[in-house]
Amino acid sequence: MSLDKLTKIYTPAIESELKNAVARINGPGLGELHDMMRYHLGWIGEGAGAKARGKRIRPLIVLLTTASAGGDWERALPASAGIELVHNFSLIHDDIEDNSPLRRGRPTLWKKWGVPQAVNAGDAMFSLAHLALQPMETTSPTVNTLQAGRVLQQACLTLTQGQYLDIAYEDREDLSIEDYWPMVSGKTAALLAACTELGALVAEAAPATREAYSNFGRHLGLAFQALDDILGIWGESEHIGKSTASDLVEGKKSLPVLFALKQGGIFAKRWHQGPIELEEVPILAAQLEAEGARSYTINEASRLTDLALASLDEANPGGDAGDALTTLAKQLLRREE
Ligand code: IPE
Ligand code: IPE
Ligand code: MG
Ligand code: MG
Repeated sequence: MSLDKLTKIYTPAIESELKNAVARINGPGLGELHDMMRYHLGWIGEGAGAKARGKRIRPLIVLLTTASAGGDWERALPASAGIELVHNFSLIHDDIEDNSPLRRGRPTLWKKWGVPQAVNAGDAMFSLAHLALQPMETTSPTVNTLQAGRVLQQACLTLTQGQYLDIAYEDREDLSIEDYWPMVSGKTAALLAACTELGALVAEAAPATREAYSNFGRHLGLAFQALDDILGIWGESEHIGKSTASDLVEGKKSLPVLFALKQGGIFAKRWHQGPIELEEVPILAAQLEAEGARSYTINEASRLTDLALASLDEANPGGDAGDALTTLAKQLLRREE
């Protein structure tokens, strides 16, 4: 069975698990808070549907990992929902932190409901994420359930540490390419590593196998963010559903920018003169590309995808789900198409 076929089987189960988790928000006067969750997850409001839901790649990876490690994917549904809710909590807060008006082609939560309610909705989603693991209590050994809770909490802490660096870097002029990877290991790769670690944990895989899966997720996460940086500058806003000017305007130290700063060319000169204005973005994006920043970043993403595939090989994945994980890793590299 192909990745597409498995995705078609898993997706409705993921959506249903997410809906159950979010239904914990109920009670008099709380309809709007429940709606904020449902809007952010792409189920209601103008433009609701596949694009507004996002790719749901993390829960898919959790389920595929469990199946490829010889477990029953349905037992991994609580963990997959927990991961996707953590991801979405982080996006709600990230859009406030990055001043982003658009996500998945729609106004962000803070744009629609204001910053105070969006901060609180993010907090609610964070709590729902951890509560979503609860059904594991009846399907997994207690020790695994406890470990799963710890893996998810640790991933959240590492993610917020990465976000700290990402935001702190906006005002730093002394950064090099080496500073990029610790930031991305936190903000993006920690959660991808948690996906594969949790998937293997639910399958009750041996410690060495769990570690190999975790490394697969971590490398995949690093490659994923490098590609997201490319999309954040050269992507089609229409296609990716978020603004393609904001990374440069916000002064984000993305991988292409750090590469160009090291070159010390025309782009670097302009960058050091002060904040980038919206009108300058197209010409500066072209300049960045001419200085080799885009091809450097693509090569890095490709190198990391190869490392991810080597870790996956070490995990010795089995069956159709194992093949699907390989396909998915390769597809992520071609997200631009
Ligand atoms: C966006 O993640 C944030 C990053 C860590 C790069 P995704 O690209 O997976 O977002 P959705 O869920 O598909 O919208
Ligand atoms: C996403 O970071 C990472 C988290 C939300 C933890 P970015 O700020 O780079 O991602 P986008 O471009 O807004 O999706
Ligand atoms: Mg951010
Ligand atoms: Mg952002």
